[in-house]
Amino acid sequence: MEIVIFPDAAAASRFAADVVEDLLRRRPTAVLGLATGSTPEPLYAELIRRHREDGLRFAGARTFNLDEYVGLPVDHPESYHAYMRRRLFDHVDLDPANVHIPDGLAADPAAECEAYEDAIQDAGGLDLQVLGIGSDGHIGFNEPSSSLGSRTRIKTLTPETVADNARFFDSPDEVPRHVLTMGVGTILEAREVILLAFGAGKAPAVRRAVEGPLTASCPASALQLHPRARVILDEGAAGELERAGYYRWVFENKPEWQRP
Ligand code: F6R
Repeated sequence: MEIVIFPDAAAASRFAADVVEDLLRRRPTAVLGLATGSTPEPLYAELIRRHREDGLRFAGARTFNLDEYVGLPVDHPESYHAYMRRRLFDHVDLDPANVHIPDGLAADPAAECEAYEDAIQDAGGLDLQVLGIGSDGHIGFNEPSSSLGSRTRIKTLTPETVADNARFFDSPDEVPRHVLTMGVGTILEAREVILLAFGAGKAPAVRRAVEGPLTASCPASALQLHPRARVILDEGAAGELERAGYYRWVFENKPEWQRP
């Protein structure tokens, strides 16, 4: 994995936006895997800015979100459908027909998950998957003990994730307990992955993902198997890495042709 450490979340998000922009300019029909939560908010804000000011276009792109809560209507403000419209889709020229988010109200969740996998395949697979990381080491909502070969399916959130996400709801009781999420195996098939993490609260999970053993107890550690995975951090999230100095040295000495 390539570990890239920035002074703050804003600089890290600009770098992540460079990765997305570089892909879209090379391949305007790119298939983007997207995440929700607090972490990608500055990335999406930067992409909107580049769309408005620099002519970055999304018209040919296709998107697949990682996950959605089970049981929340799409117009619930905390549904990931609503989040994506608010944070990105309503502000760029993406074609709504090219947007995919699992349907958390599907009458048959298993069939919905299978159809979601098929749709990713039909689109030619994910070119770039954007990820955050849970404080318990999840990616998507692949909670600890998730199979590292898992596909899109229904999962039960850990109490830790329910507590983490309670900040978006009026009370922890309102946080849905179940989600539909891409699997670890689905994520690993993306041609390129960027994982973003900001703040000291993420530092233990980042250390386990990057320097810990490959284990289902920290699903993000599965990214160690990915040939093109980048972990983009601010100082806080990098705070517990043993080899932070080495990662910085590698990045500083990276040949120009390998950027962004
Ligand atoms: C969101 C997702 C989750 C979040 C993770 C971090 O679509 O799949 O894995 O990326 O829970 O959430 P934040 O960014 O809110 O700390």
